[in-house]
Amino acid sequence: MRALIVLLLVLAVVVAGIVLGYTQISAQTARVQEPVQPIAFSHVIHAKAVGLDCQFCHRTAATSSFAGMPSLQQCMFCHVVVGQQRPEVQKLLAAWQNNEPVNWVRVYRVPDHVQFTHQPHIAAGVACSTCHGDVQEMPVVRQAVTLNMGFCVDCHRKNGAPTDCAACHY
Ligand code: HEC
Ligand code: HEC
Ligand code: HEC
Ligand code: HEC
Ligand code: HEC
Repeated sequence: MRALIVLLLVLAVVVAGIVLGYTQISAQTARVQEPVQPIAFSHVIHAKAVGLDCQFCHRTAATSSFAGMPSLQQCMFCHVVVGQQRPEVQKLLAAWQNNEPVNWVRVYRVPDHVQFTHQPHIAAGVACSTCHGDVQEMPVVRQAVTLNMGFCVDCHRKNGAPTDCAACHY
């Protein structure tokens, strides 16, 4: 009986060790995918708590290749009064006053030989979350979906979108 208890304890420790080691490894990979941005902008505050529509800031998603990034002027719509005592908002105010761009670090990027365009996807009703995950739950945007060729082509095949090579490579 005692031998069995000892065996179970040893097993529990080994399992805990594996689980801990695994979470550490996945935490490391997650961190690599969460670039430190020049200003700690949070989608949880803006897209969830304040409830702004994605396209309030990413204005050209429905009309162009690029989803587009908001200008500082759009931020100042609120931050001319909101959160001015917060250090991260003060960085925003300083950039605005000095007329300096904020160089957001890119998260998603397809290789140069791939042509991607937002417009037909938004027109076909594909949700942002299909390709970017639940961004409104991310304090720091990370790459939630691997946009490899299979991911693109599988959906194109299912939805009657073009699958010829030249649709995405030219
Ligand atoms: C519709 C209004 C609105 C717009 C537009 C807006 N924000 Fe905010 N922002 C808020 C509110 C509300 C808070 C929370 C303030 C608080 O709790 O004191 C906030 C908080 C912040 C914070 C502080 C986060 C923290 O943890 O301290 C930063 C940084 C920030 N916003 C950056 C931006 C940037 C950059 C833009 C433009 C891309 C932007 N905001 C556009 C309303 C807005
Ligand atoms: C208040 C403005 C604002 C709103 C609303 C907003 N975003 Fe953003 N978004 C930003 C800013 C600023 C960045 C760059 C900083 C960062 O990555 O956090 C960004 C970055 C991103 C990125 C990463 C872009 C890259 O570098 O590849 C994605 C994807 C994204 N947003 C999707 C969304 C989605 C989906 C929604 C709606 C759920 C949304 N955003 C709502 C301002 C906004
Ligand atoms: C079918 C997949 C797909 C959908 C749907 C999609 N995106 Fe993207 N998004 C991408 C890809 C792929 C990139 C990288 C493009 C590149 O490298 O040129 C990207 C890049 C971005 C960027 C970086 C800046 C830019 O303009 O390239 C932002 C911001 C963004 N998406 C926001 C959104 C928002 C907001 C929505 C919903 C309105 C959305 N995306 C819907 C696949 C998608
Ligand atoms: C969730 C489904 C889905 C995913 C994922 C997806 N697409 Fe699409 N794509 C569509 C649909 C639907 C259309 C619109 C087809 C139409 O209008 O007939 C489209 C259209 C396109 C077009 C325009 C084609 C043309 O000639 O009209 C290109 C280019 C494209 N997608 C590239 C990509 C790339 C690159 C990826 C991966 C990064 C991707 N798509 C991922 C569903 C998707
Ligand atoms: C719906 C869009 C789409 C179509 C259609 C498509 N590709 Fe791709 N292709 C991609 C994307 C996205 C990548 C980049 C994948 C990555 O970075 O992991 C890619 C990558 C590639 C690569 C580089 C592979 C690598 O490991 O980097 C080759 C070669 C390629 N495609 C060939 C083709 C050929 C040949 C066809 C026609 C039979 C085709 N593709 C059709 C989207 C597409």
